[in-house]
Amino acid sequence: MQNRVYMKDLKDNIGKEVIVAGWVDIRRDQGKMVFFDFRDMTGKVQCVVLPNHAEAIEKAKEIRPEWVLKVSGIVNKRPEKNVKADVLNGDVELEVTGIEVLNKADTAPFAINEDTANVNEDLRMQYKYLDLRTDRMQKNIRMRHKIVKLIRDYLDKENFTEVETPILTKSTPEGARDYVVPSRIWQGKFYALPQSPQQYKQLLMAGGIERYFQIAKCMRDEDTRGDRQPEFTQFDLEMSFVEREDVMALNEKLLINIVQTLYPEKKIQEIPFPRITYKEAMEKYGNDRPDFRNDKEDKNLLAFGWVVDFPFFERTDKSDNPQAEGEWTFTHNPFSRPKDEHMPNLMEKKDISNILTSQYDIILNGYEIGGGSIRNHEYEALQKVFEILGHKIEDIEKNFGHMLHAFKTGTPPHGGIAWGLDRLVMLLQNEPNIREVMAFPKSGEGKDLMMNSPSEISEKQLKELDIKLSK
Ligand code: AMO
Repeated sequence: MQNRVYMKDLKDNIGKEVIVAGWVDIRRDQGKMVFFDFRDMTGKVQCVVLPNHAEAIEKAKEIRPEWVLKVSGIVNKRPEKNVKADVLNGDVELEVTGIEVLNKADTAPFAINEDTANVNEDLRMQYKYLDLRTDRMQKNIRMRHKIVKLIRDYLDKENFTEVETPILTKSTPEGARDYVVPSRIWQGKFYALPQSPQQYKQLLMAGGIERYFQIAKCMRDEDTRGDRQPEFTQFDLEMSFVEREDVMALNEKLLINIVQTLYPEKKIQEIPFPRITYKEAMEKYGNDRPDFRNDKEDKNLLAFGWVVDFPFFERTDKSDNPQAEGEWTFTHNPFSRPKDEHMPNLMEKKDISNILTSQYDIILNGYEIGGGSIRNHEYEALQKVFEILGHKIEDIEKNFGHMLHAFKTGTPPHGGIAWGLDRLVMLLQNEPNIREVMAFPKSGEGKDLMMNSPSEISEKQLKELDIKLSK
C-alpha cells in the first residue's frame, strides 16, 4: 500500500492528510458522529467521522470490530482537555475523510481489544491468530524477536557462526523420549526429531567451526507443563578451546546485555551472578534451581545464578528414564567431562557416585533457564562413560560410533550451553507460562488445537510407509 503511515508515526504528520490501514478495534456510534479506535501492528489511534464526510459516515455506521480497513484522514491535535498522557496517539486523533473496507470479519469468539489472560485457553489456542492480535501477545512476540536479534548481533561480533543442524536425525538415548518419523524409502526404519542439537554441535567442533550457535527447535516427547512444551526453542552454543569459566563469562555478559538493553526498567539482583553447588542448593533450598530473589513481590527483579558441581551419575530410576539401560544413568549429559580432579576416578570407574561433572546450570527466579558443560573430547574417556552407563560395546559403536570416531580425528577441547529461550522470554515478559510467549503453543495434552494435530493419516500414506495400526 503506497504512502501508508504506521500508527506510531502519526505524531510526525500533524495537520497532514494520511493513509492508515489496520483493524477496527472498537466502535462508538454517536448518531451524527462515529468514533472508532483503529489498530495496526504499531498501535492505535482514535478516528472521528464527522457528518460533513457523508460517504465516510455511511461506511462508518456499517463497520464492526476486526473489520480490515484502509482509512484516509487528517491528523489533528486533540483538544487539551481530551489529551491522554503517556498513551501512543493520546494527543492526536484522525479526522476521517474516506473509508475503504478491505475485508469484513465475523464476530470474534472473544474480545480482541482486551487482555485474553482470563479467556478459556483452549478457545485462545483454537483461534490463535485472533489471540495474536491482542496487545499483550503482540508485545510478547515482538520482544521475543528483539531478544533473538540481540543474541544474533552480539554473537556475530564475537566471531560466532550460526549453523542449522538437521531436524531428521537419529534416535539415541539422550534422556527424554524421542519423536520418531518413519522412512518411506527405508521401510521399517525411523528418523528421530532432535531433543537438542547436542551431537551435531560437538561434531561442528570436530569440523573446525570453533564458535557455533543456533536458535534451535527441540522436540521431546514429555508431559507438558507450564515451563515445558513438547516442541520448544533453545538458544544453543558451543565453543572450542575453552574452559568452564570462558563459557560462563560469555553467557553472563550476554544475559546482562539483554536485560540492560531491552529491559532497562528491570534490576539484576547480583552481578557477577552468584554461584551455588548442587549439594548446597539441595541442602539449603531442597531443589537445584533455587529462587535467589530477596523480594519476590517485585516483578522487575531478576535473580540470576549458577548451579555447579552436579554429580555425573546417579542410580537408574527406570520410571524416570525409560531409555536407561544399566545400573547407572547420567544426570545431565553423557558427553560432559568430569571436573579435572575427578577424571582419574572416571578412567578407573571408581567411586562413581562421587564423580562430579563440569556441568553448569543457569537459573533465574527459581527456573532453570539453561545448562551446559565442558565435554569429554577424548575417545577413551567418553567410552568409559558409556561403559559405566552399561552400554554394550556393540551398542556403543551402533549409537555413538560417529562421536567416538570424530574424537579420534583431532577434535579440540570444547564446551557449550543451551538456554531454554521460551523460559527466558517468559520471565522477562512477566508471563506465568511459556505458552504465552510462543506464537503457536501446544495444549496441555500436546495438541495443536488450531490445526487439530496430531491427526490420522490416510490408508495410502500408511501403506507407503508399510505401517499397520493394531487398533
Ligand atoms: P537441557 O536438556 O538442560 O540441555 O536443555 C537446555 C534448556 O532447555 C530448556 N528446556 C525446555 N524448555 C521448554 N520445554 C521443554 N520441554 C524443555 N526442556 C528443556 C531448559 C533447559 O535448561 N544439549 C544440552 C545443552 C548443553 O549441554 O549444551 C541440553 O539440551 O531451560
